[in-house]
Amino acid sequence: MRPGLEHLVLKWLREEDPERLEALWTAADRVRAEFVGEAVHLRGLLEISNYCVRQCAYCGLRAGRVALDRYRMSEEEVLEGAKLAAHLGFGTVVLQSGEDYGISTAWMAEIIRRIKEDTSLAVTLSLGERPESDLRAWRAAGADRYLLRFETSDADLYHRIHPPIQTGVTVERTVLLRTLRALGYEIGSGVMVGIPGQSYGSLARDILLFQALDLDMIGIGPFIPHPGTPLGRQEAAGALSPREQVPNSETMVCKVLALARLLCPEANIPSTTALAVVNPDDGHRLGLSRGANVVMPNLTPPVYRKMYEIYPKKACIDDDLWALAGLRRKIESLGRSVGKGPGGRLRRGAAADIQVELPAHCG
Ligand code: 5AD
Repeated sequence: MRPGLEHLVLKWLREEDPERLEALWTAADRVRAEFVGEAVHLRGLLEISNYCVRQCAYCGLRAGRVALDRYRMSEEEVLEGAKLAAHLGFGTVVLQSGEDYGISTAWMAEIIRRIKEDTSLAVTLSLGERPESDLRAWRAAGADRYLLRFETSDADLYHRIHPPIQTGVTVERTVLLRTLRALGYEIGSGVMVGIPGQSYGSLARDILLFQALDLDMIGIGPFIPHPGTPLGRQEAAGALSPREQVPNSETMVCKVLALARLLCPEANIPSTTALAVVNPDDGHRLGLSRGANVVMPNLTPPVYRKMYEIYPKKACIDDDLWALAGLRRKIESLGRSVGKGPGGRLRRGAAADIQVELPAHCG
């Protein structure tokens, strides 16, 4: 890591002057254009199950929420969804779920095999902290990428919001990400911005960790309080002074997005649904102009979508075909194009070796 980088990242995170921030937005957009180009890749998201064994303090799918009806899509439903993604011209399908051991190793492997047989889609998995044997079997079945956000690099905060559970295995997420890379997956991670108890210093270190892990994909969204969770009810929060607490604002998310682009120039970075929930009219446009190059339209069947309530209003971002036409127009109005093909990371070098200069921060 270059000396002074953490300090500079921190200065940008604390910057609030819109005119000065323009320098950050411009630099991120320039680096995005130079390293990943004008294509905006669409990844079709299928939320295949909302069962979860984990107790994450922020998440609406956490185990023990009796108020939530649970579902698991059938093999045929998942396949139909993947075919829809291919039919819509997407290059990737993302299969996401809670950490659900009702999703067996063999069931998932068979689905991956069938998708790879029937389509030319890249397959991205986002199924939680599964044992290495599962990850190995799914990679062998043809899965290309895996998403697992580390959420925060602050170990105390991490442990506060991820209580230990009886079943399942607990491995450090950064260790698991390195395992995934060794298995040949493209790896994605990321954080929520504005978690109660998240300090500016820890957020700066999160961004440096994106670079140290040399992430292929980086997901960044605002923390959105869910009233059915301890963190959403302001329990379990470590009280920080207002000067130290990171806000879950749209601008703060954009700062993290822009800094992630500058430190990891080649990464695929989505403009996230959570950002669009905070700003339904403009979230995607802002994300795409400040470093992002990916959007993940939701292709989950509507009956299930409303049950996949990680945070409130998630299902209200309509991703029907009408909205998709609007998204394509939005992309073109930004002078960008809809990406073709799987849109994996084009690797010239490790993020830490690319050495893009952050804009100087005067002040
Ligand atoms: N607000 C915002 N994002 C959330 N996630 C989970 N719960 C919330 C919430 N309340 C994010 C986590 C997880 C991803 C799938 O969704 O970062 O990794």
